[in-house]
Amino acid sequence: MKKILVTGAMGQIGSELVRKLRENYGPSNVIGTDLWKKEETEGPFEIVDVTDGKAIHDVAKKHNVDTIMHLAALLSAKAESAPQLAWDLNMGGLMNALEAARELDLQFFTPSSIGVFGPTTPKQNTPQETTMRPTTMYGVNKVAGELLCDYYYYRYGLDTRGVRYPGLISYMTPPGGGTTDYAVEIYYEAIKHKKYTSYIAANTYMDMMYMPDALNAIIKLMEADPDKLVHRNAYNISAISATPEDFTDAIRKHIPEFELTYDVDPVRQQIADSWPDSIDSSAAKEEWGFEAAYDIDRMTADMLAKIREKS
Ligand code: NAD
Ligand code: SER
Repeated sequence: MKKILVTGAMGQIGSELVRKLRENYGPSNVIGTDLWKKEETEGPFEIVDVTDGKAIHDVAKKHNVDTIMHLAALLSAKAESAPQLAWDLNMGGLMNALEAARELDLQFFTPSSIGVFGPTTPKQNTPQETTMRPTTMYGVNKVAGELLCDYYYYRYGLDTRGVRYPGLISYMTPPGGGTTDYAVEIYYEAIKHKKYTSYIAANTYMDMMYMPDALNAIIKLMEADPDKLVHRNAYNISAISATPEDFTDAIRKHIPEFELTYDVDPVRQQIADSWPDSIDSSAAKEEWGFEAAYDIDRMTADMLAKIREKS
């Protein structure tokens, strides 16, 4: 039976991952942790600051977990506005979580990102192994984080696993300050105002994925046969490569009068321009059977329906 500690459990991914893991492994076998919690939060939960290594170790030991899923981090746009904080949280928190996993011999997952790639990376169908010279603090943290997870695997035999997520699209918890957040905002604004002003410029492609596919990927990877895992930290995975106009076309199938305008944010546009247009997920497919069920049209229909239900 699995028993899992999740850091950053109040965030866009964590809030849904905890629910999904509880459905799969039982409510008492998933311990959510974060700096704060919503009043209505259910199930086992502890306040843990990941910059405090002893706190992670003590809570993991107290609940006798066998796995840490480490999500607490600062995303790309926020990291660009506070690079020192990003370094301390993204690198310090990861090191602390890895150390707790090493001391207690736990399986370990942490998400990397398309942010590991930079302007000198091939932009189309970006390979699993390629040039990684990111120009953002977030990207620097994610590349170093992948190497650190590999180091713990080779040096200590720790079972570390990870994916390079694209922009994640979901309706339960708002995104936390990334470059791809526009692809969530556009759906809320489509329902509320039938128009959206994009901070990302026309014709800018980025990879995206709907949250149910992102959660299934974590579970599939963590349950995969370790002998089949060659790349471990971390696998390219993607479902959709899209521009703001592609989202607009998909939304107009449901809201024909929807209008898109632009007011480009130079900081986030520069980050987007440094990332791939589309990435190649074939290593994840071959080594642990990654698959995505949602294309842009199926995701759009579901997002619009779910946001309407909420409002
Ligand atoms: P988020 O910003 O929505 O949530 C992060 C959570 O971490 C928040 O609940 C925050 O309170 C918590 N946190 C911040 N500082 C903390 C600290 N010192 N101690 C404990 N908790 C702290 O982020 P997310 O989108 O859920 O991302 C989770 C992970 O997935 C991150 O590593 C991120 O880089 C990665 N990722 C996310 C995406 C995406 O599109 N959401 C894409 C690629 C990778
Ligand atoms: N969605 C994330 C971001 O934009 C990708 O890592 O920061």
